[in-house]
Amino acid sequence: MTSTIDQDHLIGTEITTDLWRTAVVYQIYPRSFADSNGDGIGDLPGITSRVPYLRWLGVNAVWLSPFYPSALADGGYDVDDHRNVDPQLGDLDDFDAMVAALHAADIRVIVDIVPNHTSNRHAWFVQALAAGRGAPERDRYLFRDGRGTAGELPPNDWESIFGGSAWASAGDGQWYFHCFAAEQPDLNWENEEVREDFRRTIRFWADRGVDGFRIDVAHGLRKDLSEPYPPWGEIADLMRPDGSHPLWDRDDVHEIYGDWRRIFDSYDPPRYAVAEAIVHPTRRARYAAADSLGQAFNFAMQDADWRAEDYRQVIDTGLADMINSGATTSWLLGCHDTPRVATRYGLPLEDDRPAQLIARAWLLSDGAQPYLNRSLGERRARAAIMILLALPGSTYIYQGDELGLHEVADLAPEVLEDPMARRSATEKGRDGCRVPLPWTAQGPSYGFGAAVGHLPQPDWFGAYAVSVQEADPDSTLTLYRRALALRGRLFAGSGLSWVESEPSVLHFARPGGISCVTNFGTAPVSLPAGQVLLSSHHLDHGRLPADTTVWLRVP
Ligand code: NOJ
Ligand code: CA
Repeated sequence: MTSTIDQDHLIGTEITTDLWRTAVVYQIYPRSFADSNGDGIGDLPGITSRVPYLRWLGVNAVWLSPFYPSALADGGYDVDDHRNVDPQLGDLDDFDAMVAALHAADIRVIVDIVPNHTSNRHAWFVQALAAGRGAPERDRYLFRDGRGTAGELPPNDWESIFGGSAWASAGDGQWYFHCFAAEQPDLNWENEEVREDFRRTIRFWADRGVDGFRIDVAHGLRKDLSEPYPPWGEIADLMRPDGSHPLWDRDDVHEIYGDWRRIFDSYDPPRYAVAEAIVHPTRRARYAAADSLGQAFNFAMQDADWRAEDYRQVIDTGLADMINSGATTSWLLGCHDTPRVATRYGLPLEDDRPAQLIARAWLLSDGAQPYLNRSLGERRARAAIMILLALPGSTYIYQGDELGLHEVADLAPEVLEDPMARRSATEKGRDGCRVPLPWTAQGPSYGFGAAVGHLPQPDWFGAYAVSVQEADPDSTLTLYRRALALRGRLFAGSGLSWVESEPSVLHFARPGGISCVTNFGTAPVSLPAGQVLLSSHHLDHGRLPADTTVWLRVP
């Protein structure tokens, strides 16, 4: 044993039995999950119709990306009304029916709260533009006077995350600030009306039976827009270890979450929350603390390359987070914002460019270069999910990853929906992981609905369909299902011990005599003694082949 982290004694049994500490959460991107009425857009009744699938798969909860009224300038993260359902996706009755069906299947429900910005169609923003300079309606957003003789230039040179200026003109010499698309004006969190409105939104959904919340851009709410503005060159690196960036991860953001925590805890059971906080690794635990949001995504695995040392480092940092926050880590391999994991791991590794960036460059070439080895990527992605599911903590699964789906790289420019693709010359955008799911091998949209989906599915999608994989003992879907069924029985507590092994092998032991062993190398290695409980790939004469993970019961 080279190191041991066992913090059961720190946490105590009461908290370790909390479902959220170990939950497997399935992320649904509603417009691409299941379409009930044949308009090509996934909807809430579509989700309700697939509850049996989610139960069969064995997940504990679902997280729904935004289903609120939206013009889809950013896939629904441009919200017109935080307390309603987009008519294209259903209505509040459909929402209640969906929650009831999920709860009846013992599946909890997490919804997205998008507090950093509204859409430009939100009633408040329409009022703010109409009200004019100096009006109190503008104080809910971040309006500033422009530069130049008549304010014809933006207040400074800051850039949006999606590319281009972070300021858009109000047409009257003032400009409004937007970290993301111009259709997503940032809210002013110094304004008490803004604060009160989000308290109302949280209560609105909690009162409807929602179990938890995923907080979008949790690191972005508080900002220092005082002059003089630092030039963009000084702040373009968004992650700082000390809370000194004017836009991101400022210490006072936790005051908002302390306030929300009192609301979450006023419910029985207390409502859960998880932060989307893209912050310096040393600052992640603060969002996961009990007096803040309670959990925070650990995106490091999304950025990790398929190498034993990378995985080990990410795991060690995540375990340290647990000690620093008292919360478990929320692991994930992908989400609606990143190229699919099977694709990232099927492209050639490079020493100086992470897989994530290689995949994004590959998308710009429409998937032509470099060569994608599909089966290798799927094989590694299978080995990877078995590592995540063996770790202490909670795991998020992005819809379609359980099918081993690849990124759709060759979407034609005219069908792209992501503003990132429009605003940036160096990004193809995120549509390739948002293509509607294949449920059946045939049909106009492979069972997604009665019509072609809102993003076209490629011909190869049929082979990945749920109906093809569900009965195949060797499929990725079957592996996920088996792993989820075993996980609850095998892994307990939050301890993890590294077991010494050769450099290309990752081996850790969990309490109860269960080991997880992964071969990141190129040749088979011998397995430690023990009973093989699950393997991501067939063993090679009792040896562990390359790119394979096993769960073992050790004597
Ligand atoms: C993070 C979301 O995951 C992403 O999809 C969105 O574009 C931004 N936040 C802005 O809301
Ligand atoms: Ca529909």
